[in-house]
Amino acid sequence: MGYNKRSNFLTVVVVLTNPSQVILRNSNLFENQNVLVINYEDDRLPKDLLEHANKVTALALDFHHHLQMESETSQELSLFFSHCLPNEELFDTAIIYYPKAKALAAYLINLAGQHLKPGGQLVVVGENKSGIRSLVKQIPSYFDKPFKRDNARHCLLYICELIDQAPKIRLDDWVSQYQLETPQGEITVCNLVGVFSEKRLDEGTKLLLSNLPKMKGRILDFGCGAGVITAALLKEQPKLQIECVDINAMALASCELTLKANNFIATTYPSDGLDQTQDKFDGIISNPPFHDGLKSTSEIAKKFVSDSVIKLRRGGVWHIVANRHLAYSDTIEANFGQVNVIAENNKYKIYSNKFNKQTR
Ligand SMILES: C[S@@+](CC[C@H](N)C(=O)[O-])C[C@H]1O[C@@H](n2cnc3c(N)ncnc32)[C@H](O)[C@@H]1O
Repeated sequence: MGYNKRSNFLTVVVVLTNPSQVILRNSNLFENQNVLVINYEDDRLPKDLLEHANKVTALALDFHHHLQMESETSQELSLFFSHCLPNEELFDTAIIYYPKAKALAAYLINLAGQHLKPGGQLVVVGENKSGIRSLVKQIPSYFDKPFKRDNARHCLLYICELIDQAPKIRLDDWVSQYQLETPQGEITVCNLVGVFSEKRLDEGTKLLLSNLPKMKGRILDFGCGAGVITAALLKEQPKLQIECVDINAMALASCELTLKANNFIATTYPSDGLDQTQDKFDGIISNPPFHDGLKSTSEIAKKFVSDSVIKLRRGGVWHIVANRHLAYSDTIEANFGQVNVIAENNKYKIYSNKFNKQTR
């Protein structure tokens, strides 16, 4: 299943993911309905659903998925990138793409329940390997027992009905908040469900915090997650103007909570890679992502390094931690002219380079 999209002279075939194909196999569930789609994937299922549903509202937690669909906004199709909807609209049906993190699934189920009319229908779809089978045990008592409606394309699709009022979501109930002793001093970390290093500091980030550089001016924290790196930087160097970007809505919301809990000020916004950042920076700091669905790790690393040199001012600092098995060195050498490893342990390396135009 798929469709053709004309882009200049090329015809690009955009294929629906397996869970989306299973949703469309069951399209009679959505005939003439007002449908909410939560956590949709890298395809255009929300638009395709309009062949059956009267109106579709789609909430992306991944900014890349949102960008794919954004231009399709219409009276019948509302699109949002966030951890929640900006209004209290109620729907006939809510569809959830079951996420990898079970705790995030619980949050999304609560969110769906909050936005369903009494007796509204919840549809949950996911690959077998996503852990969707645990839905039956996980579903809260305000829904009736989920019924396995379809089993195809390595996916399961369950449906159930809202039988009681779902509790209103309070973000505080979905946050792990902990105090963290860092070389820069104590900080508070607020981590929403499903966000990187939810319960404790990542080992790579730990090595980075033990080797933070002195920075100045405008700094980018790329893939900020819950904002641990920014918080540690601001604890020691409060004058920095830091921009925190991430592709994940739950991460950005966590980062905002972390900033607030520490009384720090920084700007947060979504970006897919460095694409949505503006102008140049005096420094880029990161524990960069090392996997992204179908893309290989080396592709992501290469793109991050080559985009970084475009975004750095002359003399700008590029300071990252990476798993030592990732092939960063050649790409760093090609873009920065040399590779500086300033610290390492048996799992991670800290690469720290300055950007000088003539070395590119
Ligand atoms: C290894 S985690 C680091 C999180 C945080 N900085 C820390 O050290 O705890 C990488 C982060 O990059 C984000 N990310 C993944 N792909 C991205 C992309 N294409 N653009 C921006 N951020 C991305 C993930 O959501 C995740 O929060």
